[in-house]
Amino acid sequence: MKIKNICCIGAGYVGGPTMAVIALKCPEIKVTVVDKDSSKIEKWNGEYHALPVYEPGLADVIKKTRDKNLFFSSQIDKAIDESDMIFMAVNTPTKIKGEGAGMAADLTYVENCAKNIARVASSDKIVVEKSTLPVRTAERIKDILSNYNSDVNFEIISNPEFLAEGTAIKDLFKSDRVLIGGDNTKSGNEAISALVQIYKRWIPEEKIITMNVWSAELSKLASNAMLAQRISSINSFSALCEKSGAKIDEVSLAIGMDHRIGPKFLKASVGFGGSCFKKDILNLVYLCKYYGLDEVAEYWHQVIKINDYQKNRFAEKIIDELSGNVDNKTIAILGWAFKKDTNDSRESASIEVTNKLIDSGAYINIYDPMVKESKIQEDLVSLWRLKTISEKNISLRLSKIKIFDNYSDAIKQTEAIAVLTEWEEFTSISFESVNMMSTIKPKIFDGRLILKDSNYTIGR
Ligand code: NAD
Ligand code: UGA
Repeated sequence: MKIKNICCIGAGYVGGPTMAVIALKCPEIKVTVVDKDSSKIEKWNGEYHALPVYEPGLADVIKKTRDKNLFFSSQIDKAIDESDMIFMAVNTPTKIKGEGAGMAADLTYVENCAKNIARVASSDKIVVEKSTLPVRTAERIKDILSNYNSDVNFEIISNPEFLAEGTAIKDLFKSDRVLIGGDNTKSGNEAISALVQIYKRWIPEEKIITMNVWSAELSKLASNAMLAQRISSINSFSALCEKSGAKIDEVSLAIGMDHRIGPKFLKASVGFGGSCFKKDILNLVYLCKYYGLDEVAEYWHQVIKINDYQKNRFAEKIIDELSGNVDNKTIAILGWAFKKDTNDSRESASIEVTNKLIDSGAYINIYDPMVKESKIQEDLVSLWRLKTISEKNISLRLSKIKIFDNYSDAIKQTEAIAVLTEWEEFTSISFESVNMMSTIKPKIFDGRLILKDSNYTIGR
């Protein structure tokens, strides 16, 4: 089966970049990315420097493909109906209410997609799960599709995405592996093969692995859990280093030189952020509990608990070093994105650290080169609303926060400076010269092990 038209539902961090790369590599396929958020679609169709997702190399791919064979549209129904293959790349956040709240994945967006596809489809479709989903979700999607539309055939395949933000284009060009899970039936195998043909255009065949749907779904959750577990493991050692006089960077180097362990994902930090590690592990914990595997659930839950401990420990260190009192003191937070080279701040450690310092009475100056002021405020307000803080108190808290468009102004006249994202521009800051104009000598806190001099570095 030759695919001529692809539709992707969800024009976010995954849908945008993955479809841009498919369009680039398969110029004969028409790729339409749709989203219910029309302002996002407008931005995808707007200026190259203001696309809704910032990723190195992304704008170049968009320049080469947009309006040739890559289209961004709000006409969801039309794009669905015209396509042979539909990717679902919608968000799957942690549920905030109902059964499994705070743990299970909220599948509302995926289910709404399935209903939309069923309502509109007038010909057979291959439906591809691109979103990260709990194992056996394909069953649920299949039920929705066939219950709402029994006139056409839907083949569901799982094709989880492994790109990391900040390196998305590089990761998509040279994926370690591509997983495609489908049913071992004639139509299932045809659907798998149709997707294999697409990836084969640029991914070596030996890296495209086909398997059963449940294995593909679970492999995604398991991969994220293993990656996050390495970070929590090294962060747990960072606490021990601080007590014992060992240095975490030296310990990481030593551990990583064992080829069975390898050097990647052993960088201690203020704690991992990002939209996925926490939600995917919580989802895994929920699944294990659901299947009665309490010990397994507890094992993975510990990865999240250590991450919370690390963020809290960093904020407490700042308070301790400022004589146990930050009331009315001004502290600069450098970096709001959850890692460098992205404008994404979902679950960034900066949010929790700032919250704790504000709770303790501090004034906060914030600078990030990519995250917008409105997003920083939105991140904090969402957290405070979740903690049921009153609107009056939220306004008061917001009045204690100033957001700057450069780090020099953000750090002036502050008592502490905390570096929370490893942006390149922070590595070369000369705090001495920048603060010549200040009357206070601030204490420097390095949450990323990137500064030459600091009063406190994680793990040292
Ligand atoms: P995102 O929030 O950036 O984008 C999702 C988009 O889907 C939003 O723009 C939203 O408006 C749209 N949407 C939701 N429901 C819709 C509907 N019914 N119709 C049309 N549009 C709809 O999310 P993301 O970061 O791209 O993540 C998407 C999925 O991919 C998640 O399951 C995530 O776990 C997974 N994933 C993310 C990454 C990553 O780096 N962000 C990497 C791998 C996998
Ligand atoms: C992660 C995975 O790496 C991707 O494979 C996966 O597709 C994606 O989640 C997802 O499912 O969303 P991402 O969260 O974008 O990608 O970025 P990472 O590079 O994994 O970093 C996550 C967090 O861990 C960041 O806050 C980063 O600073 C932190 N980190 C990473 C460390 O603290 N130490 C490390 O050694 C590595």
